[in-house]
Amino acid sequence: MDPIQLIQFDTAHQPRAYVNSSVRFHHIFSDADRLQAAKKAGWNVFQFPSEMLLGGDLLSDSGTTTLTAEQVAAMFLGDEAYGSNYGYFKLLESFAEVFGIPQEESEVFLFHQGRAAEHALFTQVGKWGKGMIIPGNGHFDTTQANIECNQMTAVDLFLPELKKSDYHPFKGNMDLERLEALLKEKGDHIPMVYLTITNNTGGGQPVSLENIRAVRKLCDEYGKPLFLDVCRFAENAWFIKNREEQYKNTPIPEIVHETFALCDGFTVSLKKDGLTNMGGALLIKRSSRIIKEHEALLNDLRDHQILTEGHPTYGGMTGRDIMVIAEGLRTVVKEEYLNSRIGQVHAFGEYLEKNNVPVLTPFGGHAVYIDVNRFFEGTKHKPEDFGGVALTALLLLKGVRLCELGAFAFGHWDKEQQKEVLPSNNFVRCAVPRNKYEIQDLLYVADCVIELHKKRHEIPRAVPVHGRELTLRHFKARFELGEIK
Ligand SMILES: Cc1ncc(COP(=O)(O)O)c(C=O)c1O
Repeated sequence: MDPIQLIQFDTAHQPRAYVNSSVRFHHIFSDADRLQAAKKAGWNVFQFPSEMLLGGDLLSDSGTTTLTAEQVAAMFLGDEAYGSNYGYFKLLESFAEVFGIPQEESEVFLFHQGRAAEHALFTQVGKWGKGMIIPGNGHFDTTQANIECNQMTAVDLFLPELKKSDYHPFKGNMDLERLEALLKEKGDHIPMVYLTITNNTGGGQPVSLENIRAVRKLCDEYGKPLFLDVCRFAENAWFIKNREEQYKNTPIPEIVHETFALCDGFTVSLKKDGLTNMGGALLIKRSSRIIKEHEALLNDLRDHQILTEGHPTYGGMTGRDIMVIAEGLRTVVKEEYLNSRIGQVHAFGEYLEKNNVPVLTPFGGHAVYIDVNRFFEGTKHKPEDFGGVALTALLLLKGVRLCELGAFAFGHWDKEQQKEVLPSNNFVRCAVPRNKYEIQDLLYVADCVIELHKKRHEIPRAVPVHGRELTLRHFKARFELGEIK
């Protein structure tokens, strides 16, 4: 008997890439407790106490990571010096190793989270002229807000395929034809091109290396720097390996290096693929044209950083946080981690799909997006009834938290016309925190959504009673649930 021969069989389920090393028990609440809390929160998911959730808090994958034992250990080695703490040097080593950009080539600016890095960058870029445009493949909302509050326009060049239900391996790609047309027509007003990997606003869809390379080529032809938003760079690399034929045998760390070799710099929220609970950064390559063309840039950025975040060697973070990031970046590029992580998200999405919940496919790396318009097809719901908000509101009562990113979050109230202006996408996002849940937690979430989908004709409308006209209104609004007319 050959024992190895005997175990040559496939299994329906695969083990996770890790085991739990610490757990947190749920506190016990009744449906009535949750109803009271939901009403008090004005049915706004952001205001609902997380303590009342039952293992299905899919509000965000940002900063919600469970740390590895190695990260917890590294935390103890962090030193809380005001200047040049131990972790700072470890982080620079980790950046160089993981991103493949040598330390001597990198100007690194640390921030407490991604949007602070965006704010620093676009505050400077905004000074370079009037009527500027930043083209991207789908700016995240904070990126767009930081561009626009500096009097520039963020233009999203989504791929047309993103809207179609047909399979496309890289729906997050930039539309190259429209980029070239824009560069030709408005090149003088374009200070940089911005590519987000993976494309969170575009349904968490990945971007191919072929597309990044083609964008780089256009940037070179038109003399523009290329900046990346790399919040989910490792997940994007996993898709490249699994969907871009020529990279199927390339190790993830090498794909990551190839990706970063193509940019002039990047902003990052380390709360995602930094596998950490806080942190952000801006990196600019010293060889980039942006430094040659704007001599004051680096000094102005340093001033901005010191004014808003503190000394450049801690950038708004504790020494402990910095150590956690330095360690997390090394874990996130491991293939066994990414297989487990993305496999879990996909198993969750496939279960929803199999049970007739309309979801955006193919699935991205960090979240499953429910298509709200298709969810309510055949019912009396209109997009301005904010069915997505009502769905997330009812789910709170089952201890589940999802996030509406659609008609309400991305729409706005036109005061003059006294009507809602609707965005092109209408999603509810189920973002899966890293290393936090077991598949059964996610299947519980899915079961709740499936049951409500069966009862979709009875789902009420969400009526904004406060905040409809505000900016970033989904964070602040309050609702009542009303009869659907
Ligand atoms: C693509 C993208 N860019 C930027 C950000 C902003 O990062 P932070 O939340 O750390 O400010 C996010 C956050 O979700 C994001 O997904």
